[in-house]
Amino acid sequence: MARVKTIYVCQECGHTSPKWLGRCPDCDKWNTIVEERESGTGKGFFQLNPQASPLSISGVGSIAEKRVQTGVEELDRVLGGGMVPGACVLVGGDPGIGKSTLLLQAMGGLAKNGHNVLYVSGEESMSQIRLRGERLGAVGSGNLFVWSETSVERIIDAVRETKPEVLVVDSIQTMHTEEIESSPGSVSQLREASLKLITLAKSMEMPVFLIGHVTKDGAIAGPRVLEHMVDTVLYFEGRTGYIYRILRAVKNRFGSVMEIGVFEMKDSGLSEVRNPSEVFLQERPDGASGSCVMASLEGTRVVLVEVQALVSKAFFGVPRRTVVGVDYNKVILLIAVLEKKANLSLSDHDIFVKVAGGIRIEEPAVDLAIAASLISNHLEKPIDQKTFVFGEVGLAGEVRAITQAGHRIKEGQKLGFKKCVMPKDNLKGLAPVSGVEYIGVATVKEAIGALFD
Ligand code: TYD
Ligand code: MG
Repeated sequence: MARVKTIYVCQECGHTSPKWLGRCPDCDKWNTIVEERESGTGKGFFQLNPQASPLSISGVGSIAEKRVQTGVEELDRVLGGGMVPGACVLVGGDPGIGKSTLLLQAMGGLAKNGHNVLYVSGEESMSQIRLRGERLGAVGSGNLFVWSETSVERIIDAVRETKPEVLVVDSIQTMHTEEIESSPGSVSQLREASLKLITLAKSMEMPVFLIGHVTKDGAIAGPRVLEHMVDTVLYFEGRTGYIYRILRAVKNRFGSVMEIGVFEMKDSGLSEVRNPSEVFLQERPDGASGSCVMASLEGTRVVLVEVQALVSKAFFGVPRRTVVGVDYNKVILLIAVLEKKANLSLSDHDIFVKVAGGIRIEEPAVDLAIAASLISNHLEKPIDQKTFVFGEVGLAGEVRAITQAGHRIKEGQKLGFKKCVMPKDNLKGLAPVSGVEYIGVATVKEAIGALFD
């Protein structure tokens, strides 16, 4: 009989060691190391197509045109234009955010359009899945197969036999493979089970969605390897208290990672938000200082969002800076620039900056909006309701050009904005958009002039 080798694996980072340790030397977490049996067969990495020999790239068939649309437009956009055959997509998100709802709903839609799909759940019984399906209106079609099962081997057998066009596995942490003795959810199980499902996806040219739980600090539970193994990683996020959910690609081998999809959670499941700008701006206060609208580029789409700032006199010691929705260090940097280049004295003020609607903005074009809202609140001068901005702010107080200015202005025009304060360098070659006046600014000082005079 083959000797079973015991290894000790950190459940946080996947570090392995030959003996037990109280603290993982790799990620420094305590009590995360658990005894696991090493698999005899898990040696090689997965083979996609073992017999094939090298081919000229022009001779390789393209799968781009074989993309299948799920019918949920927001999901398709985030995937890069639909599902790619053989691609494995990991969908992560906090518990209760709506991962199961999203995928069951998408599968229900696909089934209605005549596709054969299989939804496997390791968390809910068949009747519970049905109950959810009824709420989502996904029950009508005979093409949606559901199954409450946790054995990867049995899922693979069933898939090979019934040949569904799409497979959903909810959640990967509940799956186990018989080859490994450790319990479901452990790192080796997770790795091996995903490996098998990915291999299945590639060999059958079938898209596979794996739902994954997310740990408290936002990473998908289990080792990072899982994220490296799959083709696409999507995060489904939303803040407690908001009904809006944002689907975001953080890795995509077949599309842009800038793309977001916006959904609203309703009684009958998720509904797509086709025009997020309207949603993010709908509760904007009228004539209040410290609010500035910016045009943000999220993938191929422009979304208008409101940046808010509150600047108030600090009474105790070190003034506080609290930031939600943008990078903290970016705000600190902008405060320093405003102090030095716009002669604003902010150092003895508490400062709060927030992007309304629970959205997060990473791109540099948000700089000018943060600066404008800070100045507006500090000076107690509201920015005109029909004005929006975009632009990067440099350390010398200069306003730098950003990409896709024309695209951003068009979105502003669509929503009835009349004035756009933007980087001067972006004016070159810009076609006029009717009804919108653009003001190019080269420095923060000029921006203040354009916004508040
Ligand atoms: P769920 O998809 O089960 O979350 P996850 O799989 O990410 O853990 O979503 C659960 C939440 O969604 C729960 O709080 C109830 C809510 N919900 C609705 O509001 N409407 C619906 O139609 C459904 C199915 C769920
Ligand atoms: Mg779920």
